[in-house]
Amino acid sequence: MIDVSNVRKTYELREQSVLALNRVTFHVESGSFVSIVGPSGCGKSTLLLAVAGIIPIDGGAISIEGAPVCGKNAGERLLGMVFQRPVLLPWRSVLENVLFPIEILVENKTLGGNLRSYRERAAELVEMMGLAEFRNAYPRELSGGMQQRVSICRSLVYDPPVILMDEPFGALDAFTRQRLNRELLEIWERSAKTILFVTHSLEEAVYLSDTVVVMSPRPGTVRDILRIDLKRPRSLDVRNSSRYHELVGKAYSYFQDIL
Ligand SMILES: Nc1ncnc2c1ncn2[C@@H]1O[C@H](COP(=O)(O)OP(=O)(O)O)[C@@H](O)[C@H]1O
Ligand SMILES: [Mg+2]
Repeated sequence: MIDVSNVRKTYELREQSVLALNRVTFHVESGSFVSIVGPSGCGKSTLLLAVAGIIPIDGGAISIEGAPVCGKNAGERLLGMVFQRPVLLPWRSVLENVLFPIEILVENKTLGGNLRSYRERAAELVEMMGLAEFRNAYPRELSGGMQQRVSICRSLVYDPPVILMDEPFGALDAFTRQRLNRELLEIWERSAKTILFVTHSLEEAVYLSDTVVVMSPRPGTVRDILRIDLKRPRSLDVRNSSRYHELVGKAYSYFQDIL
């Protein structure tokens, strides 16, 4: 589904250039859940922006379903994107925030159909995320976890086959984070979506993923690719299994030098 091959990215600053990614290669199978882990500054966000076609790369190639991503074609294909902060529009209600991308995509004819049909889907998603009573509330009336759920609904409402998530649960408390991990898995298990998920939590990556791409500190390169063979569907109890702890331990072993 997603092919990242020998990717290199430098940022040109006034006085220096910063090599953010170097020789990054990995593959994301259609319908799989793949996480990228690595310390802060190793280029995870850069990589996701490059896959989304929002920023250009200096070397190598990225393709989605065989079509090259060139750094200028963001918006040509339907991707869902979830950022670390929910980035909601404060003057719009929950439902209106979820519908925001639909308004744009219907207006520029990327999506067919009328707004009304999407309104139902938006309401369903909001309900599925446990926010039915808050559909008309404004972002300031919601907790951080609830706001992040709204942003997840917004990324799902146009039903993109691929979703890119950049540390979506990084700012949440441990309880909310676990609950949203579980909810995200349920959504993914029911759909045929491909998810590329960035996190610095090795536990979260192992729990969620089929594959974990382990990156080195900057310049980000791929240190290893771990196959996570825990059975699915995964309940939170998986985190008590010895195999889970073994895999998390293996992931930590790559970061001994920075711990
Ligand atoms: N817009 C930018 N301009 C210049 N340097 C950047 C920019 N974005 C990121 N960088 C640099 O690239 C490196 C990787 O950053 P980033 O992709 O944000 O890492 P991560 O998401 O893993 O924390 C960092 O060293 C950062 O300073
Ligand atoms: Mg980042």
